[in-house]
Amino acid sequence: MTATRGLEGIVAAETKISSIIDDTLTYVGYNIDDLTDNATFEEVVYLLWHTRLPKKDELAELTKQLAENAEVPQAIFDQFKAYPLETVHPMAALRTAISLLGVYDSEADDMTPEANYRKAIRLQAKIATVVTGFSRIRKGLEPIAPKPELGYAANFLYMLHGKDPAPIEIEAFNKALVLHADHELNASTFTARVCVATLSDVYSGITSAIGALKGPLHGGANEQVMKMLSEIGSVDNVENYIQTKLDNKEKIMGFGHRVYRKGDPRAKHLRVMSEKLTKLTGKPELFDMSVKIHDMIVGQKGLPANVDFFSASVYDSLGIEHDLFTPIFAVSRTSGWIAHILEQYANNRLIRPRAEYVGPGMQKYVSIEER
Ligand SMILES: CC(C)(COP(=O)(O)OP(=O)(O)OC[C@H]1O[C@@H](n2cnc3c(N)ncnc32)[C@H](O)[C@@H]1OP(=O)(O)O)[C@@H](O)C(=O)NCCC(=O)NCCS
Repeated sequence: MTATRGLEGIVAAETKISSIIDDTLTYVGYNIDDLTDNATFEEVVYLLWHTRLPKKDELAELTKQLAENAEVPQAIFDQFKAYPLETVHPMAALRTAISLLGVYDSEADDMTPEANYRKAIRLQAKIATVVTGFSRIRKGLEPIAPKPELGYAANFLYMLHGKDPAPIEIEAFNKALVLHADHELNASTFTARVCVATLSDVYSGITSAIGALKGPLHGGANEQVMKMLSEIGSVDNVENYIQTKLDNKEKIMGFGHRVYRKGDPRAKHLRVMSEKLTKLTGKPELFDMSVKIHDMIVGQKGLPANVDFFSASVYDSLGIEHDLFTPIFAVSRTSGWIAHILEQYANNRLIRPRAEYVGPGMQKYVSIEER
């Protein structure tokens, strides 16, 4: 038995949900470019959960269900208020809150497909309220109740900022949600599938996935990109800053990918939005710095930007706090995690690989006095 480090190249599941073939990402066979240009996030959620696009009435029904289930138990907010709010990362708060939501769901351990679908709607609806509620509570503000008449993207921005978002903000945020919704067997989705393959419940699956997404090699990269842009400060400083990092063999966040070689197809959409929004908000230098970094990394390392690179300046332009970038990734990716969890339940087999043992050979136990 020989281990494959990082399971690179190993095909560990069959899926009908999304695919990455020749650097093209599709959801259920629809090119991500098409969906980003045309679909609402709710449409994509339906697509991922039902493996087909919704008809008008089906989309209206899902949109209504998501709006109706958006409120969360007060206990979630009370718990946030008891946290050491100056230090707790919103991803830690989110991970804990999703687990707590399971405690308050009387159907949490009902494993019928109908109950699991109802939980899917509740989770997707509530996660936006959890993230925005946490953001407000740590600023000493009260959470804002969702507006049922708003769509998912608009409602998120409304609950975060307390005012109706502009159409361009809704468009940009909707596109970002669509682009992050699913991504084949990425680390957090694999984590979710491993968890529920033991026939554990949906809340456990999503909680585990959030834990995996939190790491800077996965979802945490977009927050690190913004940290880097803030540290650099101006276009003139880019060359020196990046060259020093490259000379020190440090990784530049937002570049490289395990699967894509020519480029991450999601990055170009975020690049276009980043250019538009940074101009509108009077921070064009953020985009200019990003382009200069991009050209240096592509030129010297041949590594293309991934989804996290330009999403950082897009979210910053939407007035979103930098440590909420990864929780927003989780809000969108919950749709994909749930799709994979439901797919796993429908054709389950325990996921239990083997390990190559590289420790010492057989040893004789020595009593503690003789060691
Ligand atoms: C995404 C990522 C984890 C994929 O990792 P991986 O497939 O395990 O690839 P490795 O980390 O083994 O990298 C392969 C080579 O490319 C280099 N490399 C990869 N990503 C790099 C980056 N962002 N900056 C500089 N060099 C990078 C590595 O140093 C390594 O070089 P070496 O062979 O000379 O040692 C990796 O590219 C990375 O850490 N990127 C930064 C974090 C990030 O943006 N994550 C979000 C992913 S959507």
